[in-house]
Amino acid sequence: MRYFLVGFMGSGKSSIGKQLAKELNIKHIDLDNLIEESENIKIADIFNNSGENYFRKLEEKYLKETIKEDNILVSTGGGTPANHGLMDIMNNIGETIYLECCTETLFERLNKDKEKRPMISILSDESLMRYIKNKLEERNFFYKKATHTIYNDSGNCVNEIINILG
Ligand code: S3P
Repeated sequence: MRYFLVGFMGSGKSSIGKQLAKELNIKHIDLDNLIEESENIKIADIFNNSGENYFRKLEEKYLKETIKEDNILVSTGGGTPANHGLMDIMNNIGETIYLECCTETLFERLNKDKEKRPMISILSDESLMRYIKNKLEERNFFYKKATHTIYNDSGNCVNEIINILG
C-alpha cells in the first residue's frame, strides 16, 4: 500500500508522517527532504535561484519516483496536490490522508518558523493570515479529494489515522 499525507504547510505532514510510518512499519519518505538531498540544495534556494515553476517540476519528478516503490508513506509538500495532476495520481495508486487544520492553528505554527518557508518568509502577520486563507481556499479543491480527512489542530492524530486505515 502507498499512503500520502497531504495538507497545508504547518498541518503536521512531516512529524505525523514519521510517527505513522513507524507504527505501520513501512518506509517514510518526506518529499521536501528527498528533493533537498537529491538535488543537494535547500528548497528556499531552489525558489530563489530557479523560481516556483521549476520547484513544481522537481516535486512532480520526485513524487513519480517515490511511487515506483510499494509499502511507503509519503509526506508531501503543501502544494504537491495542486500541481501536475498529482492529487489524482496519488489517489489512483494509493490512499491520501488530508491533515486539516483551521487557519488560526496554521497561523500560529507558521508564524513561529516562517524563514524556513520561501512562500511566506517575508510576510507580515496580517499578510500571512490573508495568504493562509486565500491559499487554503484555492487548494481545498485538491485537498478535499483525499480518501480520508483527519483534523490535526491537536498535532496528535496518529492513533486516529491508524483506526481509520483499519
Ligand atoms: C510549499 C510547501 C512546503 C514546500 C515548499 C512549497 C507550498 O512544504 O514544499 O516550500 O507550496 O505550500 P511543507 O508543506 O512541508 O512546508
